[in-house]
Amino acid sequence: MFTIPLPPIDTWTAWRDAARTLLAARVPPDQIVWDWDNTATELFATELPPPTTRSAIKVSADFVAMAEWVVWHKDPERFARLYALLWRLRLARGLMSDRADPDLARLRQMEKAVHRCKHKMRAFVRFRDLRSPGPRRSFAAWFEPTHHTVEPNAPFFARRFADMDWMIVTPDVTAKFADGALSFHEGREKPDLPDDAAEALWGTYFQNIFNPARLKVKAMTSEMPKKYWKNLPEAQYIPDMIAQAEARVRDMAATAPTLEPARVARIREQLQQVPQPASWNLLNAGLAACTRCPLYGPATQVVPGHGPHDAALMIVGEQPGDQEDMAGVPFVGPAGQLFDQLSARAGLDRKAAFVTNAVKHFKFKEGGKRRLHVNPNTSEVSHCKFWLDTERTLLKPRLTLALGGTAMGALTGNAKGVMTRRGTIEETPQGPVLITLHPSALLRMPPAARPEAEAMMVADLALAVEWLASHPAPVDVAARRA
Ligand code: URA
Repeated sequence: MFTIPLPPIDTWTAWRDAARTLLAARVPPDQIVWDWDNTATELFATELPPPTTRSAIKVSADFVAMAEWVVWHKDPERFARLYALLWRLRLARGLMSDRADPDLARLRQMEKAVHRCKHKMRAFVRFRDLRSPGPRRSFAAWFEPTHHTVEPNAPFFARRFADMDWMIVTPDVTAKFADGALSFHEGREKPDLPDDAAEALWGTYFQNIFNPARLKVKAMTSEMPKKYWKNLPEAQYIPDMIAQAEARVRDMAATAPTLEPARVARIREQLQQVPQPASWNLLNAGLAACTRCPLYGPATQVVPGHGPHDAALMIVGEQPGDQEDMAGVPFVGPAGQLFDQLSARAGLDRKAAFVTNAVKHFKFKEGGKRRLHVNPNTSEVSHCKFWLDTERTLLKPRLTLALGGTAMGALTGNAKGVMTRRGTIEETPQGPVLITLHPSALLRMPPAARPEAEAMMVADLALAVEWLASHPAPVDVAARRA
C-alpha cells in the first residue's frame, strides 16, 4: 500500500507527478491512499515507488484538462477517482468520449462544480481598501468558496488587479499578491476588514435597480446563492426587498392611473421599467454590479463605454473580446486596431468618439489556452440594452455608428440585413444610426475578400465624418450670451 501525501498548496502538480510515477510503475488504484493535507488515517505509509525504466505513458490532453480542475473539488475521493479513471484509460483509449461511463460522468460533474465555484468566486469576492500608506494601493477580501478554488483562480485576480497589492483570505488558503508576485499561504479565520466607502453607493444602486414586479426568488438565489450572502454587502438588503415586493407591486397597481384598456398594458410596462441611472457615476456603479444576465459570472469584468462624455459620435460594437475583457476598455484588441486603421483612412478621429458595445460582458467558451468568442444571444442583448439606452440618454450623440448586426439590432430593433443596410442612416427615437460592418467580420474574411470590405467600411466611416460636418450641433444661444 502506498500513501501519497498531497499538500493543500500546489496540489495539482503534486498529484500529477505522483500519478505519473505510480502509473508508470503499474501501481493499481486499490494500492494507493491519497493523503491530502495530512487527513489520511492509513498507518502503513510508504514512499513513492522508484522511477520506472518503462517508457513514459501518454495521457490524453482531455483527461489532463479535466483533472487539473477536479483536483480542487472538495470531495475527499477526488484523487482516487481521477487515478482510477487514469488507470482504465491505459486500456480504453476512447473512454474520455464515452458519455455513458458513470466514473467519467461523475468526474465531469465535479469539474463543472469547480468551474461554477470559480465563476462565483470571480463574481462575489469583495475587496476592502486597507488604505495602506505605500505607493501601491492594497486590498483584502474574505471569501468562503465551496471548493478549493483560490489557487487556480488566483492568476485571474493577479491579471485583473495587477496594479495593486491584494490578499484573498479563505479558511483553507490565503492568496497574496504583492509587488507583482503571487504567493500562497495557510488559510485563516475571518479577518477584521475596514468598511468600504463605495459600498453605500453600491447598496443604494442595488436597491434602486430592483423591480418588485419582476421578482423571481428562485432565479435570484440560483445566480447569487444564499451561502455567499453573508460576505456580500449588498445582500443585506435582499430579505427586505423580497418581503416588501408584493406590497410594492400592489401600491404600483393602485397608484396607476385609470386609462383606456389599450393603453393600460403599455403604462404598466413603463411603470415596471427600472429607472435609468441619472449620471455617469451611477451608470458605472450600476454596470459594475450588473447581474441582469448570466454573462457577468465568467467575465473578468464589465467593459463600460469609453470616450469623452460630450462626444458627437457614439460607436457601438457587439461585445468586448478577450483583450477588452482583460483591459476593461472597449476595442483595444485586434478588431479595435483594424478599426483605428480604417478610421484613419476615412479621416475619422476615433479618440473624439464615445466607443461602447451592445453587450458589456465578454461571452466566451474555454478553448484550451485561449478563450473563444461566442455571439451573445437575443436575451443577453436585450438585457444589456438597458445600459446602452442609458449611455445614449446621457451622451445624446448627434450620430450613432452601429458596427455589425448585433449593434444594429440593439440600436434599431432589427438585426437583419447588415449588407443591404450598411452605408445608410436610419432614424430611431434616440437619434440617427449609421450602419456599417463589424471589423471582426473583416478579420475573419479570406484575404482576397478583405480589400473590398475594407473599402466599404472606409466609405461608411467617411460618410459619418461628412454627416457630422453637415449637421453641426445646434448653437446654444443661452450659453453664448452668458
Ligand atoms: N469587438 C467588439 O464588438 N467590441 C469590442 O470591444 C472588441 C471587439
